[in-house]
Amino acid sequence: MAPPTRIGLAGLAVMGQNLALNIAEKGFPISVYNRTTSKVDETVERAKQEGDLPVYGFHDPESFIQSIQKPRVVIMLVKAGAPVDQTIKTLSAYMDKGDCIIDGGNEWYENTERREKEMPGLGLLYLGMGVSGGEEGARNGPSLMPGGSFEAYKYIEDILLKVAAQVPDSGPCVTYIGKGGSGNFVKMVHNGIEYGDMQLIAEAYDVLKSVGKLSNEELHSVFSEWNKGELLSFLIEITADIFGIKDDKADGYLVDKVLDKTGMKGTGKWTVQQAADLSVAAPTIAASLDSRFLSGLKEERVEAAKVFKSGGFGDILTDQVVDKAKLIDDVRQALYASKICSYAQGMNLIRAKSIEKGWDLKLGELARIWKGGCIIRAIFLDRIKKAYDRNPELANLLVDPEFAKEIIDRQSAWRRVVCLAINSGISTPGMSTSLAYFDTYRRERVPANLVQAQRDYFGAHTYERVDMDGSFHTEWFKIAKKLQD
Ligand SMILES: *[C@@H]1O[C@H](CO)[C@@H](O)[C@H](O)[C@H]1NC(C)=O
Repeated sequence: MAPPTRIGLAGLAVMGQNLALNIAEKGFPISVYNRTTSKVDETVERAKQEGDLPVYGFHDPESFIQSIQKPRVVIMLVKAGAPVDQTIKTLSAYMDKGDCIIDGGNEWYENTERREKEMPGLGLLYLGMGVSGGEEGARNGPSLMPGGSFEAYKYIEDILLKVAAQVPDSGPCVTYIGKGGSGNFVKMVHNGIEYGDMQLIAEAYDVLKSVGKLSNEELHSVFSEWNKGELLSFLIEITADIFGIKDDKADGYLVDKVLDKTGMKGTGKWTVQQAADLSVAAPTIAASLDSRFLSGLKEERVEAAKVFKSGGFGDILTDQVVDKAKLIDDVRQALYASKICSYAQGMNLIRAKSIEKGWDLKLGELARIWKGGCIIRAIFLDRIKKAYDRNPELANLLVDPEFAKEIIDRQSAWRRVVCLAINSGISTPGMSTSLAYFDTYRRERVPANLVQAQRDYFGAHTYERVDMDGSFHTEWFKIAKKLQD
C-alpha cells in the first residue's frame, strides 16, 4: 500500500484540479476524489504530464479518506450551497475525530457558520476558505482567505504558505483571517470590490471611446501605459490585452463583437445587501451592481434608444472638441480617485462586520494578501496596507494623509471627466457616485438637517440641535398654519 498522503481534495472541476496540482507541485502528496470518476483519472493524467506530480486518485470516498495521513485534511471545491452539504455528508462518514474539512468555494458566510457549528458533533474541525485568482491562480498561486478553526489553520499553514501567490517584500498571499465565516465574508467583499474596479474601468473605456473617439489600438496603448504607473494591476493588464485581440470570426476587434450584457453569480449582490444591513455606504459597489442589472435589459435598451432617437436625442450629445492627450490623463486620474473611494467602502464594510461579529479582522493584512494571486491584485493595495499600518483605527481611507493628498491632486480632473460624461449623455455611475461619496464625506455640514426637519414635521421623529444637547420636537405644522393665517 502507498504511504499516506498529506492532504485530500474533493471536487475536480478545473479550479479543483489546478489547486490539487499546485499543492502536489509544492511537495505535498495529495489524494483526489470526485464522484464522477473520469474527473479523477483526468487529474491523475494531468499530474503525470505536468511533471510526475504526487497526485493519487480514488474512485470511492472511503479509500480516498483512508489514504490521507491523520489528522486528515480535505479541501472541498464544489458548488456553494447544497453540494457542499452533500459532500460533507459523504466524506465525514469516513473521517475521525480531529480531522478537518475545508470549503474552498464562494460560500455564503452564514452557511459556513452553520456547518462549523455542526462539526463538533462529528468531532471535526472546519474552515471556510476564500480562494481568489481564477483557474490560473489556483494552479500557480492564488490569494487564500481561510477563516474558522484556528487549530485547523495551524495544521495546514505550511501547505497554504507555499501554495499561495508569493509577492516579493510582502510574503505569501495568505493569512488566518479570523473566526467563523470571516474567510468567506472577506472573499465576498473582495468580489464586490472587483465589481467596482471592473465598472470603473468600463466607464473609463466608455468615455475614451465614445467621447474621445479612441480606437481599439489607441485604447490598447493607453491601458498598457497606465499599467506601468499607479494603476498597475491585473485588471488593467487584461483590459489592455483585450483591446489588442482581433476577431477570429469576422473583421475587426473581438471586444466590439461581445454582447453588452454582464453576467453575475451573486457575491456582488451579497456585498451590497450586507452593506445595507450594516448601514455602510457602498455606492460605488452598488452602482456597479446596478450597471450589471441595466446591462441585462438589452432588448429594452434597444427600444429606448429608438424612442429617444426619434425624439431628436442622439446617442452622444457631444460636439465639443476634446484634447485627446488631456482627456486620457484626466480619465486616468478620475479612475484612480474613484478607486480609492471604492476600496474605502469595501474596507469599511469589512470593519463594520468585524465589529458586529467580534472577528477582530486586520484590514492592513487583507490588503497585503490581496497584493498577489487574486483578481484585484494591484500595486495600489500596497498603499492601502501602509495607510492601515500608519493608523489601524483609520476611520476612512479618504482621510489617510497620503490618500487625501492624492485625491486633492486629482479632484479637478475627476470633476472634469464626470461633467464631460454628463454633458455628453454618457453614464459614469461608478465615477459619479464615487465623487458624490467623496463630496458628501468631506463636508462638515450636509443638507440632512432638512431631511430631519421633515421627519419631525410629519412623524414627530425629533431632532438634535447644533447648539444644545438633547432631543427636540417642534409643532411645525401648527406654526406654519399660524403664519399662513
Ligand atoms: C465531481 O464532478 C462533477 C462534475 O464535474 C461535479 O458536479 C461534482 O460536484 C464533483 N464533486 C464531487 C465531490 O463529487
